[in-house]
Amino acid sequence: MRRAIFPGSFDPLTNGHLDVIRRSSPLFDEMVIAVLDNADKKPLFSVTERLSMIREVIEDLETRACTLNVASFSGLTVDFARNVNATVIVRGIRAVSDYEYELRMALMNRRLEPAIETVFLMAGEEYSYVSSGLTKQVFELGGRVEGLIPPLVEEKMREKLDRNK
Ligand code: PNS
Repeated sequence: MRRAIFPGSFDPLTNGHLDVIRRSSPLFDEMVIAVLDNADKKPLFSVTERLSMIREVIEDLETRACTLNVASFSGLTVDFARNVNATVIVRGIRAVSDYEYELRMALMNRRLEPAIETVFLMAGEEYSYVSSGLTKQVFELGGRVEGLIPPLVEEKMREKLDRNK
């Protein structure tokens, strides 16, 4: 059984994240999308909201033999990976600028738990500039985010923005 985790903040889930999930699914029997519960970061969406959005969006995703699960975690990513018996951490790389941060994390995680490997997948080039942070900013300032995030996420962002007005 090849089990991986795909950790992140997912505040919110973008089409770039979905692309990485789609690309990595043939490599594993099971993948746990692991949402970091980090209130310090003042997220737009609560962990509960993020979990339920991700669950709904991935229902339509074709991942063949790979079972997708969604869970939240706090603390160290490697501890979470160990707790769910995963041997791989999946991370997406969009551009060279991601590499330095990702390398530091992967090496730190390897030092903490040498039995767990980080596997990097290159996101599709059409997502090379898509991040949760920029998408939120553009949306909040009235820009178009169609195609960058799943329609359900856009709908939830709109609801949130309307409520905060
Ligand atoms: O999507 P993000 O915000 O880039 O994800 C970053 C994440 C959640 C993978 C990273 O912040 C993380 O692993 N946090 C948990 C704390 C931890 O394990 N730190 C040591 C690894 S460097």
